Amino acid sequence: MSRLIVVSNRTPGKTVAAGGLAVALRKALSRQEGFWFGWSGKLTENPNAEARFEDIDGLSLATIDLTRDDHHAYYAGFSNSILWPSFHLRLDLATIDSTWYEGYRRVNQQFARALLPLLEPDDVIWVHDYHLIPLASELRLMGARNRIGFYLHIPFPTADALYAIPHHLDLMRDLSRYDLVGMQAKRDVAAFTEFAEHQSPSSLSGDPLRSVDFSRTEVAAFPIGSDPDAFARMAVSSAANKMIKRMERVLNGQKLILGVDRLDYSKGLPQRVEAYEKLLANDARFRRQVHMLQVAPPSRDTIKEYQETSDTLDAMCGRVMGRFAEPDWSPLTYVKRAYGQPSLAGLYRLGRVGLVTPLRDGMNLVAHEYVGSQDPNDPGVLVLSRFAGAAEIFEDAILVNPFDTDETAEALRMALDMPLDERKHRWQTLMASAQKHNVDDWSRSFLERLSPAEQQRTSTRDILYLASVA
Ligand code: G6P
Repeated sequence: MSRLIVVSNRTPGKTVAAGGLAVALRKALSRQEGFWFGWSGKLTENPNAEARFEDIDGLSLATIDLTRDDHHAYYAGFSNSILWPSFHLRLDLATIDSTWYEGYRRVNQQFARALLPLLEPDDVIWVHDYHLIPLASELRLMGARNRIGFYLHIPFPTADALYAIPHHLDLMRDLSRYDLVGMQAKRDVAAFTEFAEHQSPSSLSGDPLRSVDFSRTEVAAFPIGSDPDAFARMAVSSAANKMIKRMERVLNGQKLILGVDRLDYSKGLPQRVEAYEKLLANDARFRRQVHMLQVAPPSRDTIKEYQETSDTLDAMCGRVMGRFAEPDWSPLTYVKRAYGQPSLAGLYRLGRVGLVTPLRDGMNLVAHEYVGSQDPNDPGVLVLSRFAGAAEIFEDAILVNPFDTDETAEALRMALDMPLDERKHRWQTLMASAQKHNVDDWSRSFLERLSPAEQQRTSTRDILYLASVA
């Protein structure tokens, strides 16, 4: 069996609670030999060319350091001030500074240079996310002939948002150096296909050198999931119960509306608070009967647009408090810190409503985790954005347009008033879907498609863009 090399910007740490994705990839690495490669989290003036290996609870991890300047241009700059906002269709929040591209490229070259000497000819390489789009190109330029797959965890942009990105044709050419490109949702594959068709060699008459040839790259949707059965177990663990008891004391019978998101402008947090404000304004019977808890750990807070989102949210929560709070009742709690998975599972289980309303999202695993954590005899209701990849598989959630805060307020009302029978019925369908799309099967199906055996099967036919959900 060939070895598996997982590559990502962040690598699993020793202390941070492992997320579902990290657990699934570790599982994949326990089924076959290999290692995880990425940034060490350290910045130094003269990084070593070679990767450092360490063992983390049986996981073999190889990492490199970066210089402060390169890291800034690559991470805060090109990845998170250009690619992230553009891929999330927030060109208004992008900073189009093309000089960051050099740092982005340099870091990808540095990854490739450190990874190449560690590779064996049969190794299968699985690269993760938008920070590392050029990695296959760089490895191939250095002579790597391995099977290389790429998974995009965030949405793929529409063609005009892509055109706004400096060096977008280079990036698309970089994608064409992968054997397999996986995306979250059918909508992403459709957007990619639209771009690829417009850029097909024949449509670029007169300038064949600039065309991007995708004929050897398979592009398909592999919707990621969580481990809902693990969340079901975690939600009744003692750590979860501790959190549930703490919250129940405060709630004193009120129904909990719960949001859990990184503090990111793509998550639609201000719109969410506005929808809650409208619920309280429109229907006085909910005052003192409901409480909203928004957990929002700070993220990428050196970037101005993230600081501004944080300020906006502070102001909006303050406004709702000022408008509705009374000495003995507060309508909401806003917590800017991260919790471990067992505590979150407890919160999810307690949430009568899981409010997951990103403006645009690759998948959104909070939706999966919320579903997994529910009490089958008294489940809560998922209110979910149509613009999350999760909407393609969770049809029995209450789907909303997160930009329309009246619609979200009405969805909140429906969720809070929903009878037990309907809650159970909807949840059963959601749970079946979460189980069907679990993260373990996701990694297996991607790796099966990427395996060398699959290459032999497909080498005789023209590779098409596969829009079917894996
Ligand atoms: C998203 C991205 C991941 C990223 C995570 C946290 O889920 O798809 O690649 O790791 O956000 O963001 P951070 O910038 O803290 O790594």
